[in-house]
Amino acid sequence: MSCKRFLVLATALVVAAAGWSQPPANAPQAPTGLRCEYLVNPLGVDVPQPRLSWVLAHPERGQGQSAYQVLVSLQPEVAAGDHWDSGRVTSAQSTQVPYAGKPLESGRAYHWKVRWWDKSGAASPWSAPAVFDTGLLAASDWKGKFIGGANQLRKEFKLERRPARARAYIAGLGYYELRVNGRKVGRSVLDPGWTTYEKRVLYAAYDVTGLLRQGANAVAVTLGQGWYASRALLLQLNIELEGGGRTEVASDASWKVAQGPILSDSIYDGEVYDARQETPGWDRPGYDDANWKAASLVEAPKGVLSAQMMPPIRVVDTIVPLKMTSPRRGVYVYDMGQNFSGLVELRVKGPRGARVRLRHSELIYEDGTLNVENLRTARATDTYILRGSGEEEVYQPRFTYHGFRYVELTGYPGAPKLDTIRGRVVHTDVAPAGGFAASKPVLNQIQRLILWGITSNLHSVPTDCNQRNERMGWMADAHLYAESAMLNFDMAAFYTNFLRDIHDVQGPDGTLTDTVPHKYGQRPADPAWGAAYPLITWYMYLYQGDRRILEQHYEGVKAWTDFQRTRSQDGILSYSYYGDWVPVVKTPGPLVSTFYYYYSAQLTARMAEILGKTADTEAYRKLASEIQDAFNRKFWNAETQVYGNGSQTSLVLPLYLDMAPKDRAGRLMSALRDDIVYYNNTHLTTGIIGTKYLMELLTRSGNSDLAYELAAQTTYPSWGYMIERGATTLWELWQERTGPSMNSHNHPMFGSVSAWFYNALAGINLDPARPGFERIRIQPTPARDLRWASGSLETLRGTIVSSWNRAEKSFRLEVTIPVGSEAEIHLPKLGLSGIAVRESGQVVFRNDAYQPGAAGLRGARQTASAVIFDAGSGSYVFELTGE
Ligand code: BGC
Repeated sequence: MSCKRFLVLATALVVAAAGWSQPPANAPQAPTGLRCEYLVNPLGVDVPQPRLSWVLAHPERGQGQSAYQVLVSLQPEVAAGDHWDSGRVTSAQSTQVPYAGKPLESGRAYHWKVRWWDKSGAASPWSAPAVFDTGLLAASDWKGKFIGGANQLRKEFKLERRPARARAYIAGLGYYELRVNGRKVGRSVLDPGWTTYEKRVLYAAYDVTGLLRQGANAVAVTLGQGWYASRALLLQLNIELEGGGRTEVASDASWKVAQGPILSDSIYDGEVYDARQETPGWDRPGYDDANWKAASLVEAPKGVLSAQMMPPIRVVDTIVPLKMTSPRRGVYVYDMGQNFSGLVELRVKGPRGARVRLRHSELIYEDGTLNVENLRTARATDTYILRGSGEEEVYQPRFTYHGFRYVELTGYPGAPKLDTIRGRVVHTDVAPAGGFAASKPVLNQIQRLILWGITSNLHSVPTDCNQRNERMGWMADAHLYAESAMLNFDMAAFYTNFLRDIHDVQGPDGTLTDTVPHKYGQRPADPAWGAAYPLITWYMYLYQGDRRILEQHYEGVKAWTDFQRTRSQDGILSYSYYGDWVPVVKTPGPLVSTFYYYYSAQLTARMAEILGKTADTEAYRKLASEIQDAFNRKFWNAETQVYGNGSQTSLVLPLYLDMAPKDRAGRLMSALRDDIVYYNNTHLTTGIIGTKYLMELLTRSGNSDLAYELAAQTTYPSWGYMIERGATTLWELWQERTGPSMNSHNHPMFGSVSAWFYNALAGINLDPARPGFERIRIQPTPARDLRWASGSLETLRGTIVSSWNRAEKSFRLEVTIPVGSEAEIHLPKLGLSGIAVRESGQVVFRNDAYQPGAAGLRGARQTASAVIFDAGSGSYVFELTGE
């Protein structure tokens, strides 16, 4: 035995004897990425059977889970599954595994860990423990009352001993800031999320153990009006003391209230803050509140209390202005260089009572002054009145936000500098999930515009815009950019919440509303707007494999389809308010409505099928086919041989859902191509609806090059045109407008093209038959002059990567497939002959045949344009060459 081998063996023996061991190099690794209901270690879980997910890792390719074991315990180290020990469960399921232990109790921390067995039966080490903390599960757990009376509320209390564990549960309407013993609790702002308050009010849970102490304590809350347009606080502290014993502190009439420095606050108009009215020390114990009033009990909002199980709104970034100009005496205009949602942090020193005013806008006039015409009635103005202490004062508004790139500062005592203000970027703090980049700069610029557009409009609901007197959850906007959002950000918890919001507005007759929560627009929703319900439900199923969401919303989706049926005549749904909104060429509204009616019926049938509802499956398939026939009868123009008025959208919609008879499809596709290429000089003329489906349709039908030309176009109308004109976020209109008409400069609804970047260019696609990326199709498109593209996506199952570059006679593709997933990997032949493919140097395809042997690969076939491999998990590097 060589010396080295002896050493290895000896070490192994010692390690084995000591009872601990390094897993062998080819063994399954401990699960990571543990999530509960999509969230990492969430607080305030109020789902009775929360679902657990974990990510697998394995050094071998082609691996997957054959079994798992989950332990859930009240002990942080999870030595045993005293609340749930799943035992060894033979199953490949590593996501959405429902908790099935002892019934969960309110306000407790459930620690959990998981291990798994790979395909050959080798066990992984246990994961590091994760935790989920339950909310208040029963209405009777709430001891407090809704109180109000002024915008500052406080309460002092004593603790006999040190706290061992303390949680705060708070529903502070419209918005709250919670402070304990002088410190802000958590990093949320503009909390809680906006809901239909008559149906539901969200509460947040915080761990305040570290903020409380033995002896005197103070809890203090500032309330803003928010969307609730009034103020009401429900709060409860559940405190467990060291050495046993519990105590509760809840909002009631014993609280004290006073009006604080926020003189007025409004989402649209801004905040007025008078620092002279501050009450220093009010958020700490020992403050003399003798002249504060007693809190009054206020009428409780009618809605049920639900835990806010999604990322909160936070200050996620700080940006510094690019430049400052002074177009007039005493007027200073800052260019932040980027349109975004958020606030300004102001630094100022000056006399007591001086009033500094900040106005926000997306645009400026040529003379450098603010153009606020497109804000309509939103005043977007924050006012700070100085305390005048002689020190530098720092102000950042609390209960408003603005959509802006420019800031006008007036009333500033002295001469402001560039760093007098900073931009604070504020939106729902969704984690980034995807990345896309390509060799064509304009595509990367568009992608950047879309990322800013999406994040600017995540404000607990997906909004249409962030600046004018609107900022509504317009439903078409929401579903049209949902896939782009899901490919770029971790949206699962956000959309879970939004779907419940949609359900909350649904009428007993199945009607939905144009906006959710419903404030603007109509009931019933335009069919293209109401479609957000079936579509976002469906996307959640596709992207997350979320079957529970189908179960929860099936009846609602079906009711929406049924409602549309009551409004239809002979299969045609004629009512339409907006149709293919803001197009270059209009499309008849009834055509768009009937398309979405068909889409709803079809999705209802598919959902019914997945849920095993046989009678419904048949019924809605039949309905869908009746609508399809009616559509073909009504909108086909035999004379002109096109649908509707022949607009691009009129052609795209029936083709997208394969509604047109087969023998027509080919001719229609050429009519569409002609319209784009010859009649519009390679431009789209679609509105928000046609645009989404156009790009997908072109790619699916073998017209990727044309889709690419549209994406890379830089003259009007195109995304590139916005960039040429200096946009930093997507506009509402293809046209450049800056007047008082409807023209927001931060509207994400044309952002559907980002999904196309991922799907078509990078080539990352899901398989609807095995959703949640259990099966993946990697199908990159080396369109026209594109030299390389690269995409990645963090899914619930792990990371997917597809990154390619090509040379004249070769195509190189790097792919990563998560453990437990499978993929179909397409290598484009680039029109070459004598094709050979190597994977990490080894020949895997030659002479028109698969060459077995590379780990993880299971076979290959070819079509006229691609070699297609079947692969298991792992990272691969393919190189296709030819002549
Ligand atoms: C919104 C749109 C919305 C539309 C409905 C506009 O005011 O900003 O994005 O979808 O109304 O017509």
